[in-house]
Parts: sequence; structure tokens; C-alpha cells
Amino acid sequence: MRIPARFFAASALAGALSACMATPMEAGVSAPVQEAAAAPEDDAEAQIADIVSRMSLERKVAQLIQPQINSFTAEDMERYRFGSYLNGGNGGPYGDEFAPASEWLRLADEMYDASVKPLPGGEPAIPVIWGTDAVHGHTNVVGATIFPHNIALGATGDADLVRRIGYATAIEIEVTGIDWNFSPTVAVARDDRWGRTYESYSEDPELVAELGAALVEGLQGKRGSEDYLGDGRVIATAKHFFGDGGTDNGIDQGEVTGDIDELMAIHAVPYPAAIDAGVEAIMASFNSINGRKMHGNEALLTDVLRGEMGFDGLVVGDWNGHGQVAGCTVTDCPQSLMAGLDIYMVPDDWKGLMDNLIAQVKDGTIPMERIDEAVTRVLRVKQRAGLLGPDTKRPSERGVAGRYDLLASPEHRALAREAVAASQVILRNDGVLPLRPGANVLVAGNAADNIGIASGGWTLEWQGMTESNDTLFPNATSIWEGLEEAVVASGGSATLSADGSFDERPDVAIVVFGERPYAEFAGDQKDLGFRDEEGLNLLRSFAEAEIPTVAVFLSGRPMWMNREMNQANAFVASWLPGSEGAGIADVLTGAVPATGKLSFSWPNDCIGEPLNQAEGALFPVGYGLATGETSPMPTLGESCSLLDQTDTAVLFAQGRLADGAYAVTTSITGSARGPVMLDQFRGAPEGTGIAVRGFDRNAQEDAREIRMAAGSLLGIGTEEQDSRAYRLIYEVPQRPTGTVTLGFAQMGDAGAMIDITQQMAHAAEKGWREMIITEACAGDLTGRGLAFLSEADFTFRIAEVTRVEAAEGTECSF
Ligand code: BGC
Ligand code: BGC
Repeated sequence: MRIPARFFAASALAGALSACMATPMEAGVSAPVQEAAAAPEDDAEAQIADIVSRMSLERKVAQLIQPQINSFTAEDMERYRFGSYLNGGNGGPYGDEFAPASEWLRLADEMYDASVKPLPGGEPAIPVIWGTDAVHGHTNVVGATIFPHNIALGATGDADLVRRIGYATAIEIEVTGIDWNFSPTVAVARDDRWGRTYESYSEDPELVAELGAALVEGLQGKRGSEDYLGDGRVIATAKHFFGDGGTDNGIDQGEVTGDIDELMAIHAVPYPAAIDAGVEAIMASFNSINGRKMHGNEALLTDVLRGEMGFDGLVVGDWNGHGQVAGCTVTDCPQSLMAGLDIYMVPDDWKGLMDNLIAQVKDGTIPMERIDEAVTRVLRVKQRAGLLGPDTKRPSERGVAGRYDLLASPEHRALAREAVAASQVILRNDGVLPLRPGANVLVAGNAADNIGIASGGWTLEWQGMTESNDTLFPNATSIWEGLEEAVVASGGSATLSADGSFDERPDVAIVVFGERPYAEFAGDQKDLGFRDEEGLNLLRSFAEAEIPTVAVFLSGRPMWMNREMNQANAFVASWLPGSEGAGIADVLTGAVPATGKLSFSWPNDCIGEPLNQAEGALFPVGYGLATGETSPMPTLGESCSLLDQTDTAVLFAQGRLADGAYAVTTSITGSARGPVMLDQFRGAPEGTGIAVRGFDRNAQEDAREIRMAAGSLLGIGTEEQDSRAYRLIYEVPQRPTGTVTLGFAQMGDAGAMIDITQQMAHAAEKGWREMIITEACAGDLTGRGLAFLSEADFTFRIAEVTRVEAAEGTECSF
């Protein structure tokens, strides 16, 4: 086969590898507990000004720094006194993403205690706040209620429902001691190829504005009321300001272009509404507008947001977004602060950024007034959240903290079920719906009994889960379970048969299928074609057998479904419902009236060009059948030339190495042999120290297990001169016992080498995960393959390797 010889030079890699083997790991140290004492003041602004006047430059800057929980210790907190911190989508307390709720609360207390330890010289010690992405319920935490994603809430059109969801979410957040939610996303998604379309309520700015404001009120309480930011309420964030939903071709973090007034008339509309509702934080967006990144855009972050819109809360950056500003790096970016950013979200490189900011104030690059202004805004939000008062409590002593029974309480689950039912949009129905009581129902499709798939991205992990088990989802009802209960209660019988086979002919088959979870840029698509034909094939086989079908489509966006619709007797857009699958049965059986209406135009072709109007749509915004209502069932056009194009971006999937992709192996220590091409990515070429075997992930041998002996190397790449990022779905069964290095090799050149031992240790025993390798850690990837090198015996598994688009500046993640 092709490539191997020019892939790398073993000696160059060996040299680089030995240089990488001595990286030490950091250890965490915790600080003792102590209480805060802040001065009471009547006049909030005067109190804040007084505090600011008594702070050192170092402590002021620290208020503007937001690291993520796995990159600092309580000792760091005590020493530097960060103003806030976050858990990223892949971060959990003490390195455990699936930690029990009590561990989240323990970490909150530990960090709070460290933040308020008395400082010498009477300098004020200011309580830290913790921010999280509870974007559809408090879904980073195992056992919390998983509400439907925003696109589904948009289909309910019900602001009061969204307000109640905000309140329930805030309660669950407070249970775990967290203060601040990075939600609502008030993006107005205008190009459904964007991977964050599901985080958007609608393509209609007015609906986004209404529902975004409602979520803010639910999370924070009503401004001016007694319980504003009181018990069971948390700080909200409207994000991402602005233009996130308007990038060219729907590319995440990309370019927004056009007349600024016209852009504002769509993408800025939700912000005044959120500000009126009292939103205390606004997150800057990754995208640029007409060539200027929002994190460095003074005209918009300051003149428009502060000046025209009158926002007086804090502006937080997005994950290293400042590093994407022209002339900036992640650790050096006075430009963002000067443009109007108040808090830098700097997950890992906080130390370097903090040092530089301090130096830049000292050398006059940043005026002290700007620092004071930013700190004032941060303190103002803390003051309103009741954290600067004399009786500020530890997280575990506040409101509902520690009330673990409130996570997925019966009330919250009932609310989520109500939301699921209200969001079902029946697009076609020849009369098969509602299901006839007493019917014999077959439920098919791999997604039918899978909470992970029904929940989508931002569920336990950043990219979501494809598996479903009671350990990860202890408080959930799958779509199948909900259907079974309802059908049996109606006197019928229900059978789950993922592959659609049956002994007894059913009266009706329900086929549950859809998109696999994704988040952010990993969900970007080039078109709206749906290539997974599992659902289509099931629908076809039932049609052939003349068994009526109901298609239940799980997705984060409208997609081209003409082929599936032609086969089905009813078609329901179910979005990403989350933990309460019974809400779907409520609508299919007619127990709850169908009221869901599209908040996005549904396409009639697979191209995926922006479609934000009735003209050219298969179904316009506002469309949705009522219970019992039938629709004409014309045969829809099925031609889509895009579907026939082979996707060269896939290197390895379903156990197969794609044409043009290669996997090579060699031993780089001892008598180097090879590189040897791994035929179809299996086998154990002699002397190379690597053994590859088939491994079952979701289906038989749809993945590979790779056992690397000490000093061996595995390369994976493609012959294409592709420059895109790599995306791997991988699993690490056990922690590595020696250094693991990742190289980006080509033509005898090892390329950049990074030590990924810690990341592999972190991934160990966590199940399947996603790895994104971009230029940020790899340098230019054009024509470069990935090379895994291991110092000691190391085993890992790979299910998919693809090349994906990633906007400039996108971080590598594991
Ligand atoms: C996302 C934000 C999120 C942040 C923290 C970013 O990548 O764009 O929406 O709040 O990460 O997880
Ligand atoms: C984090 C997310 C974050 C993303 C940014 C991930 O590793 O877990 O929270 O949004 O990186 O690219």
C-alpha cells in the first residue's frame, strides 16, 4: 500500500520521544476552612468602590481570571484569589467527570474557603464564584434532570414553561454549590449546518429574545423581587455576544459578514430583552464580525453593549477566545480587556495571562481605571448575588445546597416531561397517530432505548454520550420505556426490537433514529443530508411488509428527511428530548395534545443553504399538526447528489480503514523495524511491538484495540494533503504506566510532539471519548498523520478517526 516510507523517520521520532519523557505531573493540595467577613454597606456601589480601593493590583487582576477546575488547586486559590472558575464540559471535581453531586459541593466549599481566608493588611477577601454550562438542565452532574435542548423549547413557544425550567435548573445547580450558569444561549441560528443549532431557540430573533429573557428570569428570579438571586437562584449568562448564529456557512467560531445594522437586527435582538430581564453576565462570542474577533471588538463590546444597551453586569470571555484576537496569544492579550471584556476565561494558562496583565498595568499598557472598572463589574454581580454581605455563607450552607433529593425530583422530571411533550412537532400523519389504544406496537432503532443519544451534546461530557446505562443516567426514562408503559396501560403490547425483527406481526412500528451527539464545531456539517441509513432501512423494511410506521427523529436541527418521510406513515421531529422520554409517548398516544410548532424552517433539499423563510421550505416556521390532524402525504423528491459523494474525511470508522487512509507501525527502540503497514488496521506485524484486534463498541468489531509495547509507534493518516483537524473517538481502559507522546509526522519530519500522558491518564476508565487535534497543539497539519508513541506498555481503543473543520484557534482537546 501507499505512504508508509515517507510518513516519518523513526530516528527523528525516537529522539523527540526521549526528550518528552520526563514531564512531571502536578499534585493537588487543599487549604483549610475559614469564614469570610465582609463589611455591611447600605449603598452597594459605595461598598464596591471601597472594596476596590483596598485591593492590591494582583488581587484585582485575579478577579478577572477564570481558570477551569482541573488546572488549579485550593492552594492556588488561596494564593492567587481568582474571582471565578469554571468546570468545562469535560471537567468534574477532583478529576472525575462522573463524580457524585456531593463531590461537586465539596469542591465548591473548598474553593470558597480558600477564597475568603483573611488577607494580610486587612485587604478584602472576596468570595469566588463557580460557573458551569447547565445549558439543558444541570447536565454535567450525574443524576440531574436533563431538559430538552433549546431548539425543542423553541418548538414549545412557551415562555412560562422556559421560565419554570430555568428555576428548576437553578435549584439543581445550587444543590451542588455552584453560583453561576453559562446559559441561556441566545444565538439566532440562521444556518442549520452550524453544530450549535440545537442551542438556539429559533431562527426568529423575537422568539429567541422572548425565551432567552424567560430563562434568565427563571434562573435569577425577577429583578427587584424578594427572591432575586436568592435561594435556589443562580447568576445567568446570555451568550454569545454576538453573531454566533450568523457565521458564513454555519462554521462554528467563524466569520460573520454583512451590514452591521442588518446583522444587529437579527443577532443582537435577544440582548436588550435579556438585559431587561436582569441578566448579570454576558459572554463574548468566538466569532468575528466583518473581520474583527468579538473578544477584541470595542465598538460592539463597549459602545454597543454598555453604551447603547446599558448593560451594567460583567462580560466574560469564552474558552481562550481572547487568544484568537489579532496580535494576541492565550497568555498575552491586553486588547480584550481594553475592548471591554471583564473576565478572561483562560482554562489552563491562567498563570501566564495573570502575570502579563499585572505587568501590563505596571508598564502603563492597561490603565488602572480600566482594571478598576472591570473589577467593579465583577463585584457588582457578586454583590447582587448576596456574596459581599456580612453573612455570606459557604456554598453548602446556602438555600437548597446539599438537598440531593432535588436533583431530578419528581417535580422537575414532570416539568421535563411536560416540555418534551410540548416540543414534539408532528410533520406528517396519514392517520396512524394517535396510536390506537390496545395496539401491538414494535419499537425499533438503536436510539429508542438510549438516553445518551436522546440527550445530545453537553450531557455528562462536552460531546455527549452515545451509551446509556443506569450508572450514568440513574434518573431517566428512555423513549422506549415511556412508550412501553403507555402502550401497556392502554391495553396493548409493546416490544423493543432495535433491529426491527419480530416474531409476531405488530399493528404499528415506531422507528426511533437520529443524529449522534455532538457539540460546537464537532457538529458542523457541510450540508443537511443525513447519511446514517439505519432509520431509513427500518422504515423501508416495514413499508415492504405493509406495517404502518411512525418515524421519531432525534436531531439537533432540521435535516433533509424526504427519503424517510416517503416511507413513514407519520413523521415526528422530536429534537433532543433528554431524560424524560415518556413525553414522546404522551403525544404519540394522544394523552397530551400535540401543540409543538417548528421554530426553524424545515428544508426540502439536502444542500443546507440558509433557509429562514417560508419560501423554499418543506414546512415553514409555525408548522405542526395537532393531535388527530392528518396531512397530505405527497411523495417527496429524493435526489441529493451530495449523498453519493464519498466522504474522504473519514479515515477509520465501523472497523474499516477508508480508502486513502493508512495505519502504520514500527518499533522505535531496539532494532527498529518497519514502518510496516497495518493491513486494514489489524494484526500484529512481527517486531513492531503493536498488536491490533477488533473490539466491539456498539456493534461487532466496529472499533480496534491497540496494544503498544514499550517503545512502539502507531501512525494513522491519509494520503490526502488535507489540512483539517483530526477527530478521534477513543477509549483508554487503564492508565498509562509511562509517557505517551503524540507526534504529527510527515516525510521524515517528526513535527511537533506533545506529551499526552496526563490526558491519557485522565481518560482512563472513562469510556469512549473524543479527541480533537488542531493546529493549536500540532502546528500546520497539512499532509501530516498522527503518531502515537509509548514509552511503556499501553493499550487504547479507537472507534473513529476523521478529519474535521475547526476554526482557527480551536484548542486541542482530549
Ligand atoms: C463554549 C461556551 C461555554 C464554554 C465553557 C466554550 O467552548 O463556547 O458556550 O460556556 O466553552 O464550557
Ligand atoms: C471543554 C468545553 C469547552 C471546549 C472548548 C472542551 O474541552 O470541555 O467546555 O467548551 O473544550 O473548545
